Amino acid sequence: MSAARGEEWGPATRRLADWDGAALESLADTFDTPLYVMDLDRVRDNARRFRAAFPDARLLYAAKAHAGRAVLETVTNEGYLVEGAARGEVRRAIEAGVEPANIQYTGVNPPDPDLDDVVDVWREHPGLTVTVGAEMSLDRLAERGFDGRLCLRVNPGVGMGHHEKVATGSHPKFGLPYDEVPAVAEAARDRFELVGLHAHAGSGILAPDDLDAHERYVARMGDLARAVGDLEFLDLGGGFGVPYREDEAPLDLRATAERVRAAAGELDAQLAFEPGRYLVADAGLLLARVNTIKPTPETTIVGVDASMTALIRPALYGAYHPLRNVTRPDAEPIATTVGGPVCESSDVFAADRELPEPAYGDLLAIGVTGAYGYEMASTFHSQPRPAEVLLEAGEARLGRRRETIADLLRLEQD
Ligand code: LLP
Repeated sequence: MSAARGEEWGPATRRLADWDGAALESLADTFDTPLYVMDLDRVRDNARRFRAAFPDARLLYAAKAHAGRAVLETVTNEGYLVEGAARGEVRRAIEAGVEPANIQYTGVNPPDPDLDDVVDVWREHPGLTVTVGAEMSLDRLAERGFDGRLCLRVNPGVGMGHHEKVATGSHPKFGLPYDEVPAVAEAARDRFELVGLHAHAGSGILAPDDLDAHERYVARMGDLARAVGDLEFLDLGGGFGVPYREDEAPLDLRATAERVRAAAGELDAQLAFEPGRYLVADAGLLLARVNTIKPTPETTIVGVDASMTALIRPALYGAYHPLRNVTRPDAEPIATTVGGPVCESSDVFAADRELPEPAYGDLLAIGVTGAYGYEMASTFHSQPRPAEVLLEAGEARLGRRRETIADLLRLEQD
């Protein structure tokens, strides 16, 4: 890639240190904390860089990484289709102006209301594609009169990713057993328009071992697509990782794409990919304000106003997110343990992390939160979800307002 073209799509990764500190202070002052920040220009760059590596592929954005309307608009303006894993994601994509023909619903153990709703959408818009991974799900679709574009989810028997909890490819919950797929596919053609095979091997693929396993996975899927034959696409899912640690290198996307194409082998079907994290992760961060400093014999506890309810990845996967003291970057570094207001020892963003010595009121930034950040936020502990501000073309605007206690009370019945 030439330097000039590299610039066009921005650097291969955006580090937490690259964000303008004064701009972050001003956002926190204007919109208050905890605050999610999402840079749509960066999302667009990521989408373009990914497309440049896979120019001939069918590309779908996995909405579960960040289903905010502006993000859906940004990626679909770049020509991405949308992969929606629940009827809510399908509905949100439609709300964002996405043509149902450009939506692929991927139901895992799909609840009845999901199938009802998705089949309703399909009746109006027969271009919608439905992916399921159990024979019973095929029957349930047929019972509802669905005979449209069907994609079969395969269990490839190979899984990988940043944590065992996201290595879907090796978990029997996902997809039809590999060896059963040719027979199920043949039978499915009697009832549906079989257009594709699909799998998702895991999430956060970055380490060399993961890339090797991913290559084996792609080869298996290529073999299967050839055995089944007569398909419009072979959907290899998402999973492309991004560096969370400051010293991790980003994926060489072009080299990865080359390996994937070679491993898939000769195919009549188009390759499809469903990146989520890659498009949005480094476009986002979470701002939090320091409210407590407590020196202890073990470490200095730094209490902040964001918690595991805003960003659950560290608590759930032991995930690393970079931290930055935005207010006091030049203070002497000390060992800190940074946590929020939730009464759980898992409510810790970083343990024994060196940070320029924070003081009460300092602004901290938690980096690389654009994927699976806001989307996995909860209201546990009666913590309202943070606001989210969107950056685009030098302007900042509120994307999602801060949740209120009144919002939490709204569902209560007298
Ligand atoms: N396609 C399917 C069918 C998926 O299940 C997923 C993610 C993707 C695409 C997108 O994967 P990505 O490109 O974002 O890795 N909450 C976890 C990640 C769970 C991913 C589940 N499936 C995390 O925070 O790391």
